[in-house]
Amino acid sequence: MAFDIDKYTANSVNVAWADLDFDEFDRNPLPPESLRTLRYMCDVEYHTVCYLRDLLTTPSHKEPEVGAFMTMWNREEFWHGEALAAVLERHGITVDFDELKATRLKLGWKDRLDPIKQSLLGGLVGHDFVAVHMAWGAANEWSANAAYLRMADQERHPVLGELLKRIAKQETKHVAFYASQARERLAKSKKAQVIARFALNKFWSPVGSGISSDAEVTHVMGALFAGADGRKLVRDIDSHIAKLPGLQGLTIVENALEKRGIAA
Ligand SMILES: [Fe+2]
Ligand SMILES: [Fe+2]
Repeated sequence: MAFDIDKYTANSVNVAWADLDFDEFDRNPLPPESLRTLRYMCDVEYHTVCYLRDLLTTPSHKEPEVGAFMTMWNREEFWHGEALAAVLERHGITVDFDELKATRLKLGWKDRLDPIKQSLLGGLVGHDFVAVHMAWGAANEWSANAAYLRMADQERHPVLGELLKRIAKQETKHVAFYASQARERLAKSKKAQVIARFALNKFWSPVGSGISSDAEVTHVMGALFAGADGRKLVRDIDSHIAKLPGLQGLTIVENALEKRGIAA
């Protein structure tokens, strides 16, 4: 089914959490390992604005539907960051936006397609760049959705679980946009299929790689996706990606787990 961009932009709201009883975190606090994972997720959400900045230098922003979506998507991801920051704050962890920026700079924000590379790639492949961007976004959003639902399931914390499910619900809308765009655009261009396959296979890494240290990425991937159940979820993500035109057989998320030695 086609994604209704007008309906999406008209209905886009911040994830609601004012009604949740955050005092529950005082009575029933989260363990340090879970807070470490949440911190990572919060950083990723807050970082979305930088991805948006990069993408504004590419052909994607000239596409009206993509531009409209990305504007609202960026706001929703920022609000996810705010909600997670509020949970962390309840545990005495302050997420400082400026500090986040400094850490990013220190890490050199590696493993990313920087604005110049992106615009160059954009110039090289024109409209096909948009198809690649949409496939890449779909892979990230499928991962984010699975990560939130998995954490909600693992923690079994009444308030955190509810919040994560609400965030995941918005992630499913992001999935719907990116995947429907990717499907349509890839189907029209063999060249885009070849480039998307190459780019995802060669350059994709878990969301948050490059803005967090390797140790943090490995911690989060292990916490969420180690073991048989985790591996099954990861294979589900890969199977969604592999159903996109030209991406049959790709196992990029499972490859990322194996590369980090995270056992099934
Ligand atoms: Fe998000
Ligand atoms: Fe998202």
